[in-house]
Amino acid sequence: MSKYRKKIIAGNWKMNKSVREAQDLTDGIIRELAGYRETDIVLCPPFTSLKVVGDLLVDTYIKLGAQNMHWEPSGAYTGEVSPNMLRDLFCHYVILGHSERRAYFNETDKIVNTKVKAAISTHLVPIMCVGETKAERESGQAKDIVRRQIEEGLRDVEGDLKTMIVAYEPVWAIGTGLTATPDIAQEMHAHIREILAKTKGEATAQSIRIQYGGSVKPENAAELFKQPDIDGGLIGGASLEARAFAKIVEAAV
Ligand code: PGA
Repeated sequence: MSKYRKKIIAGNWKMNKSVREAQDLTDGIIRELAGYRETDIVLCPPFTSLKVVGDLLVDTYIKLGAQNMHWEPSGAYTGEVSPNMLRDLFCHYVILGHSERRAYFNETDKIVNTKVKAAISTHLVPIMCVGETKAERESGQAKDIVRRQIEEGLRDVEGDLKTMIVAYEPVWAIGTGLTATPDIAQEMHAHIREILAKTKGEATAQSIRIQYGGSVKPENAAELFKQPDIDGGLIGGASLEARAFAKIVEAAV
């Protein structure tokens, strides 16, 4: 069974851009992509710029996303931001379990799972990130690691998962200039879809969009996006420049 899945490109700005720079970048992206409807587009600025970027996106087709969140709606969690606060700023999407959060902020599969549940119950679309490290790939464990991250991340998640996004981001390809070849990426994406089919059913697996992330650039985007199970990209470095980001979006038709 195969199904049409509209491609989705998200820009993960990470901890970059002042408020002013975020406005300029958003203006640039809107100019580059005005009227573009072929691909779903999401901008994920840091929390400090969600409001201004969201305001600029109001009358556009481009959607707003956050890079992380807490799982509780409110409470004594100094320094954290809740799902409800993101909804309040008109966020549609939230990146969860990015490898940088797993590596530097001790996010476990269990935490990611709790956040995925909170996102879904708050009507935010999770972009759940998975991916193996270089050492895990070299020791032949890549598929098992990704299987565990998917199974645990989505354990007992209820509700309609068809609109959620999974991002496969091999850690060794993030910010390194090394990209998974289209074949390597496709193989892992097909594996992810198989796990989703086994755990959540074939119809859900065929609907969930699986993004590739890790050094996607205008030069390598089209080849990656041509693969049957690659439904778009999560773009870091190249999303910080309007023209480069727009070229990647245009490569995704
Ligand atoms: P990169 O980052 O495109 O800079 O490799 C991707 C990501 O971490 O989401």
